[in-house]
Amino acid sequence: MNKTAKEIRQAFLDFFASKGHQIVPSAPIVVKNDPTLMFTNAGMNQFKDLFLGEAPIKYPRVADTQRCLRVSGKHNDLEEVGIDTYHHTMFEMLGNWSFGDYFKKEAIEWSWELLTDVLKLDKERLYVSVFEGDEKEGLPMDTEAYNYWKALVPESRILKGSKKDNFWEMGDTGPCGPCSEIHFDNRTDEERAKVDGASLVNADDPQVIEIWNNVFMEFNRLKDGSLKKLPAQHVDTGMGFERLVRVIQAKTSNYDTDVFIPLIDFIAKSSAVNYNSNATPTDSDWGQAVAMRVMADHIRAISFAIADGQLPSNNKAGYVIRRILRRAVRYAYQYLGFKEPFLNKLVPILAAQFKGVFDELITQQDFVQKVILEEENSFLRTLENGINRFEKYISENKGEKINGAFAFELYDTYGFPIDLTELMAREKGLSVDMDGFNAELQKQKERSRAATAIDAGDWVVVNDGEEVDFVGYDATEAKSRILKYRQVKAKGVEQYQLVLDVTPFYAESGGQVGDRGILTGDGEEVIINDTKKENGLIIHFTDQLPKNLESEFLARVDLHSRTLTENNHSATHLLHAALKSVLGEHVNQKGSLVNEDVLRFDFSHFAKVTEEELSKIEAIVNQKVRANIPLKEERNVPYQKALDSGVTALFGEKYGDYVRVITFDDHYSKELCGGTHVKATGQIGFFKIVSESAVAAGVRRIEAITADKAEEYIVAQTRLLGTVKELLKNPKDVTRSLETLLEENNKLKKEIEKTILERAAALKDRLKENAKIIDGVRFIAAEVNLPNTDAIKNLAYQVKDIVDNLFLVLASNIDGKPNLTVMISENLVQEKGLNAGTIVRELAKEIQGGGGGQPFFATAGGKNPEGIASALAKAESFLK
Ligand code: SER
Repeated sequence: MNKTAKEIRQAFLDFFASKGHQIVPSAPIVVKNDPTLMFTNAGMNQFKDLFLGEAPIKYPRVADTQRCLRVSGKHNDLEEVGIDTYHHTMFEMLGNWSFGDYFKKEAIEWSWELLTDVLKLDKERLYVSVFEGDEKEGLPMDTEAYNYWKALVPESRILKGSKKDNFWEMGDTGPCGPCSEIHFDNRTDEERAKVDGASLVNADDPQVIEIWNNVFMEFNRLKDGSLKKLPAQHVDTGMGFERLVRVIQAKTSNYDTDVFIPLIDFIAKSSAVNYNSNATPTDSDWGQAVAMRVMADHIRAISFAIADGQLPSNNKAGYVIRRILRRAVRYAYQYLGFKEPFLNKLVPILAAQFKGVFDELITQQDFVQKVILEEENSFLRTLENGINRFEKYISENKGEKINGAFAFELYDTYGFPIDLTELMAREKGLSVDMDGFNAELQKQKERSRAATAIDAGDWVVVNDGEEVDFVGYDATEAKSRILKYRQVKAKGVEQYQLVLDVTPFYAESGGQVGDRGILTGDGEEVIINDTKKENGLIIHFTDQLPKNLESEFLARVDLHSRTLTENNHSATHLLHAALKSVLGEHVNQKGSLVNEDVLRFDFSHFAKVTEEELSKIEAIVNQKVRANIPLKEERNVPYQKALDSGVTALFGEKYGDYVRVITFDDHYSKELCGGTHVKATGQIGFFKIVSESAVAAGVRRIEAITADKAEEYIVAQTRLLGTVKELLKNPKDVTRSLETLLEENNKLKKEIEKTILERAAALKDRLKENAKIIDGVRFIAAEVNLPNTDAIKNLAYQVKDIVDNLFLVLASNIDGKPNLTVMISENLVQEKGLNAGTIVRELAKEIQGGGGGQPFFATAGGKNPEGIASALAKAESFLK
């Protein structure tokens, strides 16, 4: 069968559509609103709330292709990628789901039908596995799944697997259940005749690989490790798209399929190196083959993470992306001789491949490419510095082993993977102290774990009820009950999280901070410090639990803070539209923060925004403020309808089928937004930009303030100007007057410098004449009158130039502060053992001070100018 990757993907989606599944879009690869996850690592992530019964089910049957990343946390494949031919950083997971609808029977029968009837895979090469049970967990064998399989597959190809392979869990806590995997034996008939495929399942054989996992979600893993039955039974399946394509296209490596060929071909052509798919670790072209696979793989993860809004940076998810990018650059540099940025050139090829599948990339191609180029440039410089640092280390340190801490410094600061350091060491006939390196690595891991660990207890249910009603768009007060609470501990601080049945509190999202406020009930007040979302759940943070958890509360949002925040949020929309109209349509939101003090808006744009452009932008926004445009808020607008009406949607944001549209003038600003806003723009009062800067390649940041804050700012600036004017004696033209003052000041400075130089030249000669010869040394000790220590230092060097065998001690009193300078000719340092540093410290005692420096030059400062004479007198004693 000669199906292309595109056709295979479509066949999967069509098949499940024909079985009544709603086809939904992939969620972004970067996860927001889930503190337990940085990146989407399974198709089911976006449905976590549905499994747990925490969100309403819209479609009981769903299928999609989800872009996933397994590079951190529980599922991490990074180190295998490129070395083997079937693990990836980013991969597509084809999945079908049942939310409390069909269960094991249909899931198993349909997966078999699709693989064997539709995609025509050889039945003889397929193996399936079922959960054998686990005594410790009190779980029986999955005989139900076994029996369904038995009707389709000979028993010799149904294998029983342990908890490790056949019980799938999303993370340390959360939805989980027994699973049934499908494996494909891709070996030659000859090999198959020799060794039974069954013995190679889950045994790391590169040709006997898992292609599909059918999970039967039944439990929630709780914090204490126990399993709790979910309210309903669900199906969660995940099929590795790249592996499926490979077995259908009958290839022995994922990289030999049309998913990767366009990328590999371009890399091979550009480096003038042939890609040898069959290279083994002992072959000379092994490194090159690995490098090509690493590059072809990593560019996918990097590009989609950036397109979904995660820029490379120095912390958290940004750092993960930076490390993947650096791994690719390093391989390209080391094995394929790419000394100039190259990876970014792969972006257009990738974007074209995903056209019509994940259009996020093609629409942001320039931006993504620019960000990668900039990262490559800076890392290639770091790489070079690291190599220099390595060379320096080798020349300064003897011994056969490279110190582990130094190897770690190369790893951590210069991004050198340890195998690169080992390779460079081997080239010099050295080895690396791996124990030392690993110890440092372990220490770092522990540091970062301690810094980010959040210890969350299990939820304690107080009142029954599942749905949470958010009323905060219409009200800032509501009568509420606590549904459940839990205790959390982060960085040693204990807090409680509450879920309310009805809440007016806006939970942090879309850049707008969460509401603060108060719960009152049963004679008690509970302060809510913050409100955040965890997936769909609105969580209220408090330091203290109410005594009577069951009472009814009045939940009240802090209105003052909410109003100021709304000013800034609506102003952000006005700013976004103004940016597009002044700078161009390429401007896209890349980040936003809105709180009661300030609004911060990051957007794609490749140059500094000029003063003139900023003034224009400000003027447009303020004009819209004065126009007092009423807010038009539409809820539950079908997504496509909103898009058709020209609304601004953001990349990397997960939108549902129905969206909320915020409009300020149909012809001006129309955005998809979940935040809260002013009733009319006049409330914003006044808008003022306070800074414009760069945050990353191709991303600019504007910070601005509104209302009272903006007014206060202008008042303060005006006052400042008033003070300046007064100081300048109220000139007509302030700027001119300041310029004149600066010019005069410069002139005077130059004149003073000249005078000092003349004075120093005269002093220099006088000092030379007064030198006393003691034991072959020309000894000079004098108090000089110069206005600053630079001038004294300068003088000392000048004297050194004209006097041999010099031992010079200068003292001076600058505005009541005594100081000493000692200069000794280098030969005397050697021959007489004189040391300026030691001497100056000793002499400084006379002026109640301290100092130090080098053996030939040192300085000291002190408190007592009366001691200058005795310090100078004491100096001579060092020659006796
Ligand atoms: N959640 C399962 C997996 O990721 C199946 O989708 O393997």
